[in-house]
Amino acid sequence: MSQISRGLENVFIKTTSLTYIDGENGILRYGGYDIEDLVEHTSFEEVVHLMLYGDLPTKLQLQRLKSALDEAYEVPQQVIDMIYSLPRDSDAVGMMETAFSALSSIYGMPWNKATNRDNAIKLVARASTVVANVLRAKEGKKPAIPEPSESFAKSFLKASFSRTPTDEEVKAMDAALILYADHEVPASTTAALVTSSTLSDIYSCVVAALAALKGPLHGGAAEEAFKQFVEIGEPDMTETWFKRKIVEGKSRLMGFGHRVYKTYDPRAKIFKKYAKLLSERNQEARRYFEIAQKLEELGVETFGAKHIFPNTDFYSGVVFYALGFPVYMFTSLFALSRTLGWTAHVIEYVEDQHRLIRPRALYVGPLKREIVPIELRG
Ligand code: CMC
Repeated sequence: MSQISRGLENVFIKTTSLTYIDGENGILRYGGYDIEDLVEHTSFEEVVHLMLYGDLPTKLQLQRLKSALDEAYEVPQQVIDMIYSLPRDSDAVGMMETAFSALSSIYGMPWNKATNRDNAIKLVARASTVVANVLRAKEGKKPAIPEPSESFAKSFLKASFSRTPTDEEVKAMDAALILYADHEVPASTTAALVTSSTLSDIYSCVVAALAALKGPLHGGAAEEAFKQFVEIGEPDMTETWFKRKIVEGKSRLMGFGHRVYKTYDPRAKIFKKYAKLLSERNQEARRYFEIAQKLEELGVETFGAKHIFPNTDFYSGVVFYALGFPVYMFTSLFALSRTLGWTAHVIEYVEDQHRLIRPRALYVGPLKREIVPIELRG
């Protein structure tokens, strides 16, 4: 009898030098570097280099990479028009999927070791243009293309809000970009890998990944987690809400639990730090931060014994909210950052480990039946 691993739990589909997760001890590393150190001491651009070229860049390499990103922000007008042609209340990730389908029609090209990384860098830059304009279209603002600045995070925030962000905001956005950049092979990355295994183009891989990301059990969780804080409304109401909704109502606590981490997700701790920092200057955000803290305590008390702890999506929403993003953008912000992990993984797979992904389904239906003519089928 063949073994079925429901949810492909503990199935290894590739080797990787990109991301290491120790779920028992709450350790996450990109290319051997602890996530805490990367957030503290590097920038998202440096992580782009690490993911695509295997190491942190030299000054010159970083300068080249920044120029490559700066040169790729522009996207064809048709792509912007397509985003703006959708109803303003469209799902933000759905709008991204539309834009990336269009980009795939325009830029999709065969895999080639000599150009794969350049394509990935351009894709990441274009993703920031897409996400900024999804926000702008939904908010009824005119389109804007990110302009070169000191950093990718700053260019993105400026294009999103048409104002110069503070250093603190840029640092928090940069941290979020690093924290969400990769996480081995969750559902979205697996969808991208399946797509790449047919040798479909890199933009189509991102479309597949986006479709998988937006569900509430994956990237959609940050929005769902934050909606809990909004529903609770006031810190004093947290315990009552938790008892009614989670304990008695038996609902899942969103932003808690993980297939791999059986302890605190290290990203949750870092997001919490930035959520605290930013919410010190934003009263609304502070209220949500306080609610989140109380909910975290109750969640850990109740579920800790089952190894269910806060994951990356628990506090990230407070950071995004404090930066000025509406809740409906949280999953797209996750996606912007994860375009790096998706592209790095598919390149790793196509270049070094390529084989068509084609699993089997164990047939359990009737073995053989004779067709009864339709007139006789009662
Ligand atoms: N709240 C309450 N109970 C939970 C939760 C939760 N958040 N997560 C898991 N459980 C319980 C679940 O009810 C089940 O209990 P029992 O064995 O008594 O039936 C047990 O834990 C195992 O659950 P599972 O769904 O089989 O476990 P999984 O490994 O598939 O869970 C998960 C992973 C992320 C789907 C799940 O923890 C969950 O639904 N969390 C809430 C959604 C969320 O925050 N997702 C973001 C994940 S991290 C970022 C990302 O990947 O995008």
